Amino acid sequence: MTQAAKLLTAEFYRDQVLTVIDMVKKNEGVMEQESLSLHADDLRDPQRLEKERALFRRLPLIVGHSSQLKNSGDFFVQELDGRSWLLTKGNDGEIRAFLNYCQHRGTKLVHDASGCKKRFSCPYHAWTYTNHGDLIGVPRADLFPGLDKSQKNLRPASNVQSAFGLIWLQQEGEAIDVADFLKGLVPEFEAINLGDYHLFFDEVRPLKANWKLPIFAFLESYHIDTLHKESIAEFFVNNVALSEQHGPHIRSFVPRKSIVDLAPSQFDSVRLAEYITPTNILFPNVCMIGHPNAYSILTMFPSDAPNRSSWRHMLLVPKKPENEKEQRHFEKTVEVLDGMTYAGEDYWVSEQIQEGIDAGAIDELVLAKTEHLLAHFADMVDSYL
Ligand code: FES
Ligand SMILES: [Fe+2]
Repeated sequence: MTQAAKLLTAEFYRDQVLTVIDMVKKNEGVMEQESLSLHADDLRDPQRLEKERALFRRLPLIVGHSSQLKNSGDFFVQELDGRSWLLTKGNDGEIRAFLNYCQHRGTKLVHDASGCKKRFSCPYHAWTYTNHGDLIGVPRADLFPGLDKSQKNLRPASNVQSAFGLIWLQQEGEAIDVADFLKGLVPEFEAINLGDYHLFFDEVRPLKANWKLPIFAFLESYHIDTLHKESIAEFFVNNVALSEQHGPHIRSFVPRKSIVDLAPSQFDSVRLAEYITPTNILFPNVCMIGHPNAYSILTMFPSDAPNRSSWRHMLLVPKKPENEKEQRHFEKTVEVLDGMTYAGEDYWVSEQIQEGIDAGAIDELVLAKTEHLLAHFADMVDSYL
């Protein structure tokens, strides 16, 4: 039985909350001096996309929640930009990740999205592997003189880690430790411990837009009053946000209108997300958004064309619903956040922008002085390429 997970109090970010209250009272966002813009070509250039896809292969990416590999034998399959990965939890409690293809002739090995199994048998000629990736069965092995089975184990990813309640897969390159990678965000991840949360909703959808466009939408609040007028605008302050940079990651604090009534003496007893939406943009492709009763982990993945990608929304709630009323409450959260706000507005507008870019209608994306985080994110991608 899972414990109800923790939601951060306003006290956890006392200094930042005080600063944000002050900013809202003065109605003042953080501003850049110069006006900035982004190149539209960065969202339609196939050569650039190839470099970005390579970047995705060498960084740790969130591919799941720890509950997906809870018990020995648990497995799931993750498709990433045209490659299929098999993630398993072994008898020794270790999690592992392999390219999900048979070493005989390359057939995709596991076709179920998830399950609990200790052996995987190829649908073509039944070569069989353990969940540790070892080839243990070759029918009519006498037909393969000189075959050294130990040379035909499944091909592993360069690193897979379960950290802070999430599963992080690094496909290639030198292994990067997730705690090192997250830098100054670690205390927050430790305090929240997403592993105690329940994965209530998890969906992947295609998007007719470059993978960076939805991230841009989560880096500015200039659009809240217009794009979100039917959904969340009534709760939020436009154009005022506090941000911090932690290595390549960006944390921002987007105030709700309710914050002006919050007194420091209450910080201990109220949830941060009732007053401020904490948003972490984890490099390169994650928007982690704190809601009053849940966390959204939104991940973006590029594909083989600059104007095509996919997005995944995992909604983590503090505990598994125990009755109809609780179930309905979180279903309503999904409806408003996922359906109306994200799919219906932020991701919808990303497709609209892409169409304008592909039509040759703009050469640059113009940024307001309060939208400087978009330029920072774009610079960060450049510096990693
Ligand atoms: S391709 Fe897998 S057993 Fe032949
Ligand atoms: Fe938005």
